[in-house]
Amino acid sequence: MEETDIYSMIGEEGFTRLVAAFYRQVPHDDILSAMYPRNDLQGAEQRLRDFLIYRFGGPQKYIDERGHPRLRARHFPFRINQAARDRWMQLMNEAFVDAALPTEAEQFLRAFFEHMSTFMINHP
Ligand code: HEM
Repeated sequence: MEETDIYSMIGEEGFTRLVAAFYRQVPHDDILSAMYPRNDLQGAEQRLRDFLIYRFGGPQKYIDERGHPRLRARHFPFRINQAARDRWMQLMNEAFVDAALPTEAEQFLRAFFEHMSTFMINHP
């Protein structure tokens, strides 16, 4: 199995479930709620979902609307330290429990997020 097989395995529906389960928790989180746009959480949810769909073998809507992801640069406006990174992963790990994706897809995505979330740290 390759990364780009994940879209055909879990579809738009799987990504929607996972990302919705993540964003449901954001407003209640003492670290993350202050970072995300309070009045555009739905937009933020859509951007993450579209990005993942594109990255894992689905349609390129994210690229059409947002251009090259440049994810590290796009995260510079936010102070992401180890604690924020760990909290982000904690919410995402909760979301995996909720979403109950097929094990193989979950393992791939978890490894991807573990790596990428560390890469996004931009503050001591
Ligand atoms: C390490 C902890 C992280 C924090 C605190 C964080 C925080 C944020 C915040 C506050 C936004 C702005 C929300 C919006 O309006 O779109 C954002 C956007 C985004 N994040 Fe993260 N993020 C983290 C990790 C990640 C990871 C691991 C990924 C994916 C692998 C990711 C993917 C995205 C994407 C795709 C966007 C939208 C970019 C755009 O098109 O503007 N983030 N993130």
